[in-house]
Amino acid sequence: MNSLPANNPDWLVKKIIQMGGTISFYDYMNFVLNDPVNGYYGSGKAKLGVGGDFVTSSSLSDDFAFLVGRQIEDWLFQFKSVFLSNQKLAVIEFGAGDGSFMSGLIKYLLGSSKNFLKGVSFIIIEPNKGMVEKQKNKLEDLLSLGIDILWKGLEEVEENNINGIVIANEVLDALPVERITFSKEKLFRQAVSIDKKSYRLFLDEMPITSELEKSIELAKSELGITIPPKDALEGWTTEWHVDNSEWLKALYGKINNGILLIIDYAKEAEKYYTSRNSDGTMVTYKNQKMIPNVLDSPGNCDLTSHLCVETLINDAENVGFNTVGITKQGEALLALGLAERLYGIQKEFKEDLSNALLRRETLLRLVDPVCLGDFKWFVFNKFKEKKKNINSSCFR
Ligand SMILES: C[S@@+](CC[C@H](N)C(=O)[O-])C[C@H]1O[C@@H](n2cnc3c(N)ncnc32)[C@H](O)[C@@H]1O
Repeated sequence: MNSLPANNPDWLVKKIIQMGGTISFYDYMNFVLNDPVNGYYGSGKAKLGVGGDFVTSSSLSDDFAFLVGRQIEDWLFQFKSVFLSNQKLAVIEFGAGDGSFMSGLIKYLLGSSKNFLKGVSFIIIEPNKGMVEKQKNKLEDLLSLGIDILWKGLEEVEENNINGIVIANEVLDALPVERITFSKEKLFRQAVSIDKKSYRLFLDEMPITSELEKSIELAKSELGITIPPKDALEGWTTEWHVDNSEWLKALYGKINNGILLIIDYAKEAEKYYTSRNSDGTMVTYKNQKMIPNVLDSPGNCDLTSHLCVETLINDAENVGFNTVGITKQGEALLALGLAERLYGIQKEFKEDLSNALLRRETLLRLVDPVCLGDFKWFVFNKFKEKKKNINSSCFR
């Protein structure tokens, strides 16, 4: 038994006790992130940005949304000119955090393609009500300009109805995952239990389900991923992204003609499922600090894991998506004009050295090869006429 005592908020203790004293790690992650009253995202407690718990590319400044905006604008223009001239197009953002990306994107398009905006709906798909409130506050001014911004559940979108672009930046890393642990020569499902005397939480094990076993076997046959790796030691643990496939399948069904851009931390399978990566990639973030204890401050911090490059691509292709390409954020943003923004700083700030340096740092953080710059950009598409294709400037 892997014991990592941690603090114990009453609401979570009650929930776990009601469920018999032990819950799967998947349920734990779902509760601490998405519980509508106490979850980090569900309640809207999540604090993104430099003054918050962690930064996302969008929460640093509008630069990220402006640069991705160039790509989205280019895709939308191609859609209009190649085959959807009379259709209303959509830009859909999943998991919009505090609304920074959508706000920056619309500001960019207002500046560069104002007339074109009339033919575009902006839709946010966000299950956490607490976050929706933040997003509505952030987008208030743009809503009052009459920009067509809507909040919807994916289930409210008709099948084969989306024509346009779907983006999910740092969202799949927030979907609950199973954790698989190797113990006494067997695989277990990682669990979280309550110590009946101290009421503290600790990591535990529960039997693996036949569904999990099946999906691990499938990954072995389709991708050659061996769980556990041959030389795994006692206690070896990894994440298993059980929700990605269903999410991709539901989304695929809703798209008529569209491009899906997923941006996230991701590792190649050969680095993910090795004996050296003995405790997976799951961490928590609080006050800009990364904390490896996954039971730290439940409900009051982010809990997140890396994606696996090959399993995500395989899941997407298995439901029907076509893979356009994968690149690193650093390279994508340079292809979309980040260097020109850096050169422009001198002109923009003239004698204001301290602000010029701050802006330079913000831009460089987006492409820092040991952090945001290493994020992977996955581009998939679905076209009704399979032969159709459009160009992606982020791969130049
Ligand atoms: C790390 S934040 C993403 C930040 C944002 N995309 C940005 O660029 O700053 C994760 C977001 O995903 C949302 N989320 C969690 N589960 C989701 C799901 N199943 N579908 C869509 N969004 C989800 C969270 O509520 C939160 O808004």
